[in-house]
Amino acid sequence: MDRLLIRGGVPLGGEVRVSGAKNAALPLMCAALLTRQPLRLSNVPHLRDVTTMLSLLTRMGVEVSVDDKLGVELCAEDLVNPEAPYDLVRTMRASILVLGPLLARYGRARVSLPGGCAIGQRPVDQHLKGLQALGAKIDVEQGYIIAEARRLKGARLVADLVTVTGTENLMMAACLAEGTSVIENAAREPEVVDLAACLNAMGARIKGAGTDVLTIEGVTELAGTAHRIMSDRIETGTYLVAAAVTGGSVTLRGADPGTLDSVIGKLREAGATITAKEDTISLEMRGRPASVNVRTAPYPAFPTDMQAQLMALDAIAEGTGVITESIFENRFMHALELARLGADIETNGNTAVVRGVRRLQGASVMATDLRASASLVVAGLAAEGETLVDRIYHLDRGYEAIEEKLSKLGARIRRVH
Ligand code: EPU
Repeated sequence: MDRLLIRGGVPLGGEVRVSGAKNAALPLMCAALLTRQPLRLSNVPHLRDVTTMLSLLTRMGVEVSVDDKLGVELCAEDLVNPEAPYDLVRTMRASILVLGPLLARYGRARVSLPGGCAIGQRPVDQHLKGLQALGAKIDVEQGYIIAEARRLKGARLVADLVTVTGTENLMMAACLAEGTSVIENAAREPEVVDLAACLNAMGARIKGAGTDVLTIEGVTELAGTAHRIMSDRIETGTYLVAAAVTGGSVTLRGADPGTLDSVIGKLREAGATITAKEDTISLEMRGRPASVNVRTAPYPAFPTDMQAQLMALDAIAEGTGVITESIFENRFMHALELARLGADIETNGNTAVVRGVRRLQGASVMATDLRASASLVVAGLAAEGETLVDRIYHLDRGYEAIEEKLSKLGARIRRVH
């Protein structure tokens, strides 16, 4: 199993390019199921989750071709098998995103229930409730969601809570429903907006993307299109925090500063100087960061996917920071691993009190999920001596060429087999 070996204490400096967003790429790939014509996606990140989604779609009968310029063409002309099996769903919860499109276009789907995961229970009840309101018949048998519908019918859907993939699933399903659907309490995440833009280019009629009410007028069929995937705001944020904890100065190209207001705001509060232009963000940090308090919440508030990285910053900051996780019930597993590096963190339920220490010390650490792993890398870059991060297959799910990008910024980091 691969590990990352980091010799910390080097201020990051230089430029690096941000990749396409994982959490936009995955639903966009599923949107290919909604049409017989090819969907061409560019700026596709090279990630394990993307490969997993490609194998899931290929197994269903979608024709996939990949070019050498981060482009993927998906064509669901004929579909053989509208099924997402447990072995794939287990490794990637986002597989649930095939459910809405399959049901809308083929009238049936068999998708494994995702089950619990390291960061919390993560049920899919809102996805199912919404699809039922659109007229689907849904049963759960032997761990599988069996869904059927003749043609979905537009309806008013009110989500009990804000769910990103839930909104995406229902939005995709509603595109091919008969009549108009309204999704209230919809997620406003930029990835939802990116998906809506692509669906509209395919002929869908979605209004309100980026607000909490989506209105979708159903159409009988969608066409193919070409779409460039938005840049990854969480990858961007992670490199910004990495630069901040090392007292560095970096420029990130291909970024979308407009999607990062809350993260940029917190980094400025911590003392960083940040300049944002159209698709570039530069950060300079002099001296030790100041602690910040953070509360995660749906967009545009501070993203849960940046919580672990911010905890690494608070760990070496001056003062005490209070971090409240309001999205997932079990997303503090990195706290104990950060403590192995010398961090002083006390967790109580969904709150962590982080008393900044002057220095972290390298150690062997291991993480249980993607963003937790990112926080350990960030902390390792700031720590004195060597940090060995184990189980980096989590990182490979969501960070394209992380060690190459960090090396380019001057970090002493390498992958060991
Ligand atoms: N929830 C329910 N019922 C549902 C759906 C969600 O109770 O039917 C709960 C969840 O358990 C959670 C909250 O609602 O407590 C929000 O979950 P959401 O559905 O928004 O999360 P998701 O759609 O499964 C996406 C991202 C996650 C990111 C969250 C929150 C993708 C593929 N995944 O997950 O990304 O943390 O939104 O922003 O878009 C990551 O990239 O590391 C990652 C975990």
